Amino acid sequence: MRLILPSFLFLGVTAFQAPNAFHRDSSTLRVARDISAEEVEAAQPTVNGNSAGSTAGLRKEPPAHAKPKAFATKCASLYSPNVGAERGLATPVYFGSTFLLDDAAHGARLHEKREAPYTDDDGFVYSRWGSPTNEAAALQLAALEGVDDPEKGLGMCLLFNSGMSAITSALQAVLRAGDHVVAPYTVYGGTYEFLTEFADQWGIEVTFVDGAGPEGPENYRKALKENTRVVYTETPANPTMRLTDLEGVARVVDEFFGKADDKPGTSQHDRKRAYVMVDGTFATPYHQRVLDIPGIDVSIHSATKYLGGHSDILAGSVTSRCEPFLHGCSKVQKIITVPLNPMDSFLLARGLKTLDVRMQRHGENAIRVARMLDEHPMVAKTFYPGLDSHPDRDLADGIFRSGRDSDDDEYIQTYGGMISFITVGEGNDALRRARNVCERLRVINLAVSLGGVESLCEHPASMTHTMISREQRIAGGLHDGLIRVSIGLEKAVDLVQDLKNALDRCDETGCDA
Ligand SMILES: Cc1ncc(COP(=O)(O)O)c(C=O)c1O
Repeated sequence: MRLILPSFLFLGVTAFQAPNAFHRDSSTLRVARDISAEEVEAAQPTVNGNSAGSTAGLRKEPPAHAKPKAFATKCASLYSPNVGAERGLATPVYFGSTFLLDDAAHGARLHEKREAPYTDDDGFVYSRWGSPTNEAAALQLAALEGVDDPEKGLGMCLLFNSGMSAITSALQAVLRAGDHVVAPYTVYGGTYEFLTEFADQWGIEVTFVDGAGPEGPENYRKALKENTRVVYTETPANPTMRLTDLEGVARVVDEFFGKADDKPGTSQHDRKRAYVMVDGTFATPYHQRVLDIPGIDVSIHSATKYLGGHSDILAGSVTSRCEPFLHGCSKVQKIITVPLNPMDSFLLARGLKTLDVRMQRHGENAIRVARMLDEHPMVAKTFYPGLDSHPDRDLADGIFRSGRDSDDDEYIQTYGGMISFITVGEGNDALRRARNVCERLRVINLAVSLGGVESLCEHPASMTHTMISREQRIAGGLHDGLIRVSIGLEKAVDLVQDLKNALDRCDETGCDA
């Protein structure tokens, strides 16, 4: 007879709760373990995955369910797969909003816990407070961010249902009425809207600065005040690909406030030093492991982009080593925003498996496209950190790590997959040319977003930024002729040729779309 051993796939409570199923030391990842003869002996074949055997950790066994006899009860019962399922090499997808409890005391314990990104061996209680597939993907991303290394300091990652959800959760975790934020002019549009239309209404003051290049840290310093609680950065910036000197920013914050002194178990509002947050969506941890930089507190990504990598999910991440902050952010996630759902967590985990190779190819393709653009007579300016013409070229090699683990590693220096360029001309001429280029492309897709396997292009002046005045648009660096391209994984020569064809014909009237 086949024993129906406890479910590892569909229910959070198991008799053989593998202590290392989601081991906190993610270097071991999810490993299958052998089941001893004694354990098999102890297991009671029941439905609902319960057995009389005991488990490691805090949990006891809940009473075994009765074997259902009635048709309706059979319909409503859980039938678990063989324990061999635990050895699957793909991240298991655990659907389910709720988890079986041992007893009332178990339920009480789980409800009393201080909010944290991951569960402990006491298990899961309700998916808004944490769920297994989400946690598996979060552990993987935490490892990529480098916060799985005890020597550097352990940290944790929280996954949200969009990049904006991650950003607003991180900000809401620490900001209160009367607080002050310093952010760059070039911050992502949604973050700008949150700061100016929501945070502003809640009594939070915001100062925008030019955070790019060698002057950036000094500009941040000048804006700091006693009540500054968040120093927000986004680098590389959209659409100019300008870079922020993060070491410099952390240094000026240290000089102003002193070093952070976070004590686990305290409130995130207790610390005196402002939290330094980085939206590193364009670079990903392949290039930029910002939490390795002393004084950077929070790493944020829109995982919708390169981390997911296939334009099929919305997701966002917040990673930190600061326990009081993580507690505050987990609380926001539990009460206001929502954790990333199981299916999208699976897709994110799957995307992360190829991040290293995808990022290298994005970069190898992008430099070839950028060089062509830089020389094309219909292009007035190209923004790409790998080009000598880029204003932050000197910072670029230090920032774009290109997947290196140590300085001795062999690597191919790349600079990410995002390029912007401005077509020649002013006003309506530039608008028309840029629109013509976008609409003539036949390999690159006319669509917003970025970071997927397929190349995308967008023209902000006639697409995403039509609702703001031309003056404001130009002040924000969005020239009439600016086009942003997310270089995908197609063959580079196809992308170069596609853009070249479109640029060569951009003065022809009409489009053949
Ligand atoms: C740099 C950056 N941060 C955050 C976001 C917001 O991410 P999401 O669309 O996943 O909410 C975006 C979206 O384009 C972005 O480019």
